Amino acid sequence: MRKKIVAANWKMNLSLAEGKTLVEEIKAQLPALNENKLVVISSPFVHITQTAAQLNGVAHVYTGAQNCHQEASGAYTGEVSASMLNSAGVNYVILGHSERREYFGENSALLVKKMNQVMANGMKVIFCCGEPLEIRKAGTQNAYVQTQIEEALFGYTAEQMADITVAYEPIWAIGTGLTATSEEAQDMHAHIRSVLAGKFGAAVADNVSILYGGSCKPSNAAELFACKDVDGGLIGGAALKSTEFLGIIKAMSEA
Ligand code: 13P
Repeated sequence: MRKKIVAANWKMNLSLAEGKTLVEEIKAQLPALNENKLVVISSPFVHITQTAAQLNGVAHVYTGAQNCHQEASGAYTGEVSASMLNSAGVNYVILGHSERREYFGENSALLVKKMNQVMANGMKVIFCCGEPLEIRKAGTQNAYVQTQIEEALFGYTAEQMADITVAYEPIWAIGTGLTATSEEAQDMHAHIRSVLAGKFGAAVADNVSILYGGSCKPSNAAELFACKDVDGGLIGGAALKSTEFLGIIKAMSEA
């Protein structure tokens, strides 16, 4: 049975005190979770030891990070390695986010190096993909996302795919208030699963959780999560308010 996951991506938001309060509020009202219904909270690097300590002993809620460096260690001033994240209590690392691709020039070759570091250090990857608006307008989004998946994931083994969650985040829906319709999301998620099935086989593809991201909120989460191939969400803005994030977790826990 593949896992349903709601993952928060705080991006570059919240002071340490604000982050602490938010996690406490979430913990106080968590809906029922289990080993197949998980929550991940991906805070900024400076928050991680605090977030991990707060989540220590909270069943089925995991600590995430939003990036890591592609090398194991060394003279890379200002960077953070995968082994450091692991030592701080991180379980999941978001990689390939469109903001990293766009603002930091991250391409597939670099992402493969980063994913290698994350998996070599015993953590799981949340691999993001998704098309910009002009590609969606041209109707070539399936080929675009397929290329992102092929370039980044096809070098891995079927066993390694157990450590990779995919997040489909159409760029035109991120932070814009525009959400993919449940039909658009389902179509792309089914396409992603078929691309993975073509490479790794149907059984492996069936086990990969594919999350939707892009203006997901309590009011649309239930409809999105009801889609056959939508296994939860990667949440930006709505993860910064406990009531909204809890509403999305509830939608996942009831899906
Ligand atoms: P929003 O939920 O703010 O649209 O952000 C989505 C996202 O980029 C999560 O990684």
